[in-house]
Amino acid sequence: MPVFPASKIKDIADLDMLLGEMTLEEKAGQLNQPPNMLALEDADVKAGKIGSVICAFNAYAGNESHERVRAGQTNRLQRIACEEARLPIPILFARDVIHGHRTVAPIPLGQAASFSPELVEEAQAIAAFEATADGIKWAYTPMLDIARDPRWGRIAEGFGEDPYLASRLAEAAVRGLQGTNMADNDRMAACMKHFVGYGAAEGGRDYNTGEISEYTYRNLYLRPFHAAVKAGIATAMSAFIEVAGIPATCHKWILDDILREEWGFDGVVVSDWDGVGEIVHHGCAADHTEAASKALAAGLDIDMATFAYIKHLPELVRAGVISEELVDRAVRRVLLLKYRCGLFENPYTDETLGDKRMFLPENQNKALEFAKRTLVLLKNENETLPLTKPKKLGIFGTLGKATWEMFGTWCLDGQASEVVTISDAIKKEFGSDVEYMESPNPDDAISFARFVDAVIVVVGESPHRGGENNCVTDIGLPAGQLQLLKGLKRMGTPVIAVVVTGRPNDLSWLEANVDAILLAFHPGSMAGQAIAETLSGKNNPSGKLPVTFPRCVGQVPIYYNRKNTGRPLDPYAKGMTRYIDSLDSPLYEFGYGIGYSPINYSNAKLDGWKVSVDVKNEGKYAAEEIVQVYFRDEVASRSRPIKELVKFSRTTLKPGETKTVSFELKAEDLGYYGPQNTWVVEPGWFQVAIGANSLAPMFARFQVDASGAISESQVM
Ligand code: GLC
Repeated sequence: MPVFPASKIKDIADLDMLLGEMTLEEKAGQLNQPPNMLALEDADVKAGKIGSVICAFNAYAGNESHERVRAGQTNRLQRIACEEARLPIPILFARDVIHGHRTVAPIPLGQAASFSPELVEEAQAIAAFEATADGIKWAYTPMLDIARDPRWGRIAEGFGEDPYLASRLAEAAVRGLQGTNMADNDRMAACMKHFVGYGAAEGGRDYNTGEISEYTYRNLYLRPFHAAVKAGIATAMSAFIEVAGIPATCHKWILDDILREEWGFDGVVVSDWDGVGEIVHHGCAADHTEAASKALAAGLDIDMATFAYIKHLPELVRAGVISEELVDRAVRRVLLLKYRCGLFENPYTDETLGDKRMFLPENQNKALEFAKRTLVLLKNENETLPLTKPKKLGIFGTLGKATWEMFGTWCLDGQASEVVTISDAIKKEFGSDVEYMESPNPDDAISFARFVDAVIVVVGESPHRGGENNCVTDIGLPAGQLQLLKGLKRMGTPVIAVVVTGRPNDLSWLEANVDAILLAFHPGSMAGQAIAETLSGKNNPSGKLPVTFPRCVGQVPIYYNRKNTGRPLDPYAKGMTRYIDSLDSPLYEFGYGIGYSPINYSNAKLDGWKVSVDVKNEGKYAAEEIVQVYFRDEVASRSRPIKELVKFSRTTLKPGETKTVSFELKAEDLGYYGPQNTWVVEPGWFQVAIGANSLAPMFARFQVDASGAISESQVM
């Protein structure tokens, strides 16, 4: 029986009373996070050896569906921890609920294509609503790694290449998951990951080393994490990467100096899977004992899946190698996290919720709206789309019949049986009056093409070609797909490519040869209906690219917020930075995406800090347009990107409607982490652009003086 009931922990001050009761072994137990909840030993739970558990069976949870966790299972273990252990300390149950639990939202890269913080917040709130019903109280999301390399499979899992967009979506994810009180029974602790710089892995090869200057670290990779901390995120997960020769998992500069001293973060830092053990592989510790000592001293609180803390911390303290205060520091954070999650007050989950909250019709409808808003129309020659009153349609491509593949990477709890295929959804959307020709065989498909009004070819990637540990040297479409497209192209029938993928693929042949390209970043449970309603015109696509699409993998890394360099890009001038065997521009720029209605921008204005533009819907379809504002700092103490996203908003436009869209800038928006590694706005001349994507021209320049006021402005 516990020495006192968990309910006795009434406020934060009681946590120190509890800490004072704990043995060294019990303290180490709170910092221990084994995997595979179903294999836990009850005796270990009773002995206080399990502070938290990740409900995943292996380190590659991202690429496999997993057996569902049920609240009955978590409650059973919780009762041992709270009613049989010597000290009543609840367990925190964690899972990779990355972009939905049972109702699966589009992958985060797709969510980013909506440029909609509201969508991200709502999607994560649904994820929390469902996952908490299964006893999960800690989600290892959002993944905030800035990614500039489509070879890296995990580009699918983050919010793309821009720190401003990723920051706004990070804040939204925290709001959606944690709400205003993590103790609510439909809210949970979020986890910003991977802290920090994982997306810089050289060669786009997962787990590889990355070289990052402090300037780039602060001005690119750290920014979305800082935004998440300001939004109140409860936890962080250290990255596998090493920074300047030190693994992030034992990097004091990252985990303590920046995260805690500079940012004031008071949450918990958990390692990534076996991150403590990997310090040995990095060659920065001789064994797990040394790795544990280094990680704890650097500020890592919980050891996921290495068992180094539980095995070695007591001996390290007794040997005087580390102080017990360091252990107490970590344990106090863990207890505070559990307190904030309401676990001391109510450690158990209502077991009736599991069957009431999953895949509800209203959440399916929301997932449908999410999916529709993430679709990006890249090409639509001769208004091929939307398909109006076709008589015969060809539907080809294996992904057209796919189900679980629509979930994308990092989906543990989606049910393939609940996915309507793209093919079935198209047939439902266009109805039985249309004749459909389909075949899994490319030769049949090509021979059928002459008999239909248009062919819809669903190409792209299985999630198994993306996500963790799935990196590629060739970002072209998977084997066989281009051949099918080329064969169909020869038949002269309009070819509509639906590209379902988790990364920027090389679509250069498609851009030059097919009639329409609709990009779908693994759209989740409602992919089929979202795509079908877009092909029919019921949905006017509005998504914009959160990542740059290269012409070929040889251009990688390629991103919009690039530097001017000492030999500015000028394809036709000798001696300037350029390739001799390819255009230097990307295939599709960051922020690019079209719709069924031409949108006209005019009358861009800068009036003081207010920047505005008139936006007109010149088509016959109602539209949502994502208006974007970019700026450039002409001269600074450090070189600045040629353009940086600084504002965006979605605006609805009826056919023929014109709206003036305006934004209020402020000097603070124009800053960067300068020579002192602090956010500074340096006086000088800036330029501003407002438009439909990152190609929008700079139309005005303005001078900011030392007081942060605009002293002069000019039209460019
Ligand atoms: C994986 C991933 C991380 C995930 C963790 C637990 O290796 O890097 O994002 O949360 O392990 O599954």
